[in-house]
Amino acid sequence: MTASLFEKADGYIAALTAQEDEALLQTTARIRQANLPDQSISPVQGKMLQVFAKAVAAKRVLELGTFGAYSTIWLARALPADGKLITLEYDEHHARVARQNIEAAGLSDRIELRKGSALDRLREMIDGGEPAFDLIFIDADKPPYLDYFQLALKLSRRGSMIICDNVIRAGKVLEENTADEKVKGVQRLNRFLKDCTEVTATILQTVGAKEYDGMVLAVVN
Ligand code: SAH
Ligand code: DHB
Ligand code: MG
Repeated sequence: MTASLFEKADGYIAALTAQEDEALLQTTARIRQANLPDQSISPVQGKMLQVFAKAVAAKRVLELGTFGAYSTIWLARALPADGKLITLEYDEHHARVARQNIEAAGLSDRIELRKGSALDRLREMIDGGEPAFDLIFIDADKPPYLDYFQLALKLSRRGSMIICDNVIRAGKVLEENTADEKVKGVQRLNRFLKDCTEVTATILQTVGAKEYDGMVLAVVN
């Protein structure tokens, strides 16, 4: 009942502020054709990421979890012509679909897809002295979310934004003794924020086209 009202309002917001062009529509179509699940962020969430990327004048963006590159495309479009987005994906099939979508969106010059385990790629970047990112979007597997966040801090500067998807999980984070490893992973991150002095953070609940969930919004102090 309320869900459909949230969906209607989401459609209202999308129609006014987050209309998808052909490239984004085709991205979703290719994800479905490849028989992949409905795991991309929504159009309104994509627009929200763009708003934050613009707010921090992002030139360098890092994404963990490319999937079909739907969120990647929204984020890359917020970059200036000399901007760069690095996106990490370990699934061969997802990476193939993502590459097609990035190519078709005309964003191959701005987006670098790095294959492999996000933890490995992150440690490589830290060891290699990778310059700080202006915005980091964490959306890969949920059990290591706290590790991802701590490594993201090492790849940040004061004022960088770190955004983490799926941290409310339809309210399952309220269950203290859950056995769900995904929920436990995001709970560890959410608890860490309580006493973390390195960031100014909140969690924004998200409703609408996707199931009830939330995103961590953090700015590095
Ligand atoms: N950001 C995408 C959705 C990401 S879904 C969007 O909104 O459009 C999560 C993705 O993370 C999946 O493609 C999955 O294969 C990838 N993933 C899961 N575990 C990973 C790991 N350890 N390292 C890198 N990628 C991983
Ligand atoms: C899952 C992952 C996501 O990033 C998401 O937005 C929804 C679901 C999942 O792994 O189930
Ligand atoms: Mg997600």
